[in-house]
Amino acid sequence: MISTLKEMGFVAKERLAELELNVTGVHYYVPERAQAWRKGIYISFDVHTKNPESFGQTFEVARRQAPQKLMYTVLGVKLIRSLFPDREVLLDVYVHLKRPMSHPSIQYATATKDVLDFTEMYVSYKRPSSLIQSGEIEEGSTLLRYCKKYGLPHVMKQGTHYASPDSSSVEALEAICTTQEVKSVLEIGGGVGTCGRAAQFNGIRDFTFVDVNPIACQYLRRHFTRFRVAEENAFTFQFNRHWDVILMGIGYLQNPWFLEKRGQDLADHCSVVIFQSGITTFCEFEHDWICGKAEFAPWPWWTVFQTLRPYFPHVWETSFDWQTCVIGAHKNVNVALLQKRMRQRGFSEIQYQRVIL
Ligand SMILES: C[S@@+](CC[C@H](N)C(=O)[O-])C[C@H]1O[C@@H](n2cnc3c(N)ncnc32)[C@H](O)[C@@H]1O
Repeated sequence: MISTLKEMGFVAKERLAELELNVTGVHYYVPERAQAWRKGIYISFDVHTKNPESFGQTFEVARRQAPQKLMYTVLGVKLIRSLFPDREVLLDVYVHLKRPMSHPSIQYATATKDVLDFTEMYVSYKRPSSLIQSGEIEEGSTLLRYCKKYGLPHVMKQGTHYASPDSSSVEALEAICTTQEVKSVLEIGGGVGTCGRAAQFNGIRDFTFVDVNPIACQYLRRHFTRFRVAEENAFTFQFNRHWDVILMGIGYLQNPWFLEKRGQDLADHCSVVIFQSGITTFCEFEHDWICGKAEFAPWPWWTVFQTLRPYFPHVWETSFDWQTCVIGAHKNVNVALLQKRMRQRGFSEIQYQRVIL
C-alpha cells in the first residue's frame, strides 16, 4: 500500500506543480467500513504553497475544488481502480500556506459559482436492494448498516454522491440522549431522516427538519408525518426559538460560511450543536477550518467567525470511523459525561497514516 500511495503522490506532485502547489506527502485513512463499499481508502495529498491567493483573495470555492478535481482527472478512474481494485477511494488535496509568502504569478481556475451555491444538486432515492444488485453498494458498508439499523427504506443520492444515511450526527444524538433529557431537535440538512428515526426511538416528539431541496422535503414529509419539515436554506432560516440539540448536515464545504453568517444565531438558539464536518482526509481542510486551527489565520479570507470558537465555550472535534464532526456546547451541557458516552459508542480521535514523499 505504501508504494502505491507513493506512486500516486509522485504523479500528483508533477501535476500540481503546474498550479505552484508543492506536494510533500500523502496521508490516508482506512475505514473500518467504507461508505458505500465494504473496504475503502481515503487519501489526502499534503500540499504547500507560498501563494496566499491560492483560493482567491475572498475564497472562491471553484479554486478549492480545482486541485481536488485535477487529482481525479490526472490519476484517472482507470488507474485508481487498478491500484485499489476492491476499495472505495476518495481523494482530496490539503493546501498549507507557508512563509515567506509570495505574490501570485499564475491564475488558477476562475470561479464560476458563488461559494454558497451548493443547493441545486439533483436528489434521488434508491432502494438498498437495487444498489446491492447493481454493485453500487456492498454488504458491510456504512450506508447499508444505517439503513438496516434505523429501518430506512432508501439511500439518498445527491449529484453523483451517496449522501445519506450518515453516521456521526445520529450516533452523537444517541449519545446525548443518554446524558440528558432531549425534548427538542432541529436538523438542518435532513437526508433520508436518519436522525428523525433515532429521535422517534428515543421518544422525542419535537423534531424539525430544515432542507433546501424540495424533493428532500417531500420525501421527509411523506416519511415523518408528525415532524415539521421546513423547505428553507440554512443561510436564511430564522431561528426563532430554543432547541436542545441542533444537527448540522448541510454539506461540508458550506460550514465555514454558515458559521460566519449564522454562527451567533445558531449559538443563541441551542444547548449543543453537532456539525457533520468531513470525512477523515476528505474535506479535512474545512473541518480544521471550523475547528479554529491556528494555521488558517494567515489566509487573506480567514476570520475567527468562520469557526465555532467565538460562539460556544466548549468545542471539540471527534470522528465516528470515517465521518468527522465538530461539537459546540454551552455551559449547561455536561461535556465530560457526553464525551465519555461518545467514546463508549465508538467515537475516537481523528487518526491518519502518513507517507512522506
Ligand atoms: C449529507 S445530506 C444529510 C445527511 C443526514 N444529516 C444524515 O445524517 O443522514 C445533506 C442534506 O443537506 C441538504 N442541504 C444542502 N445544503 C443545504 C442548505 N444550504 N440548507 C438546507 N439544506 C441543505 C441537502 O438537500 C441534503 O438533504
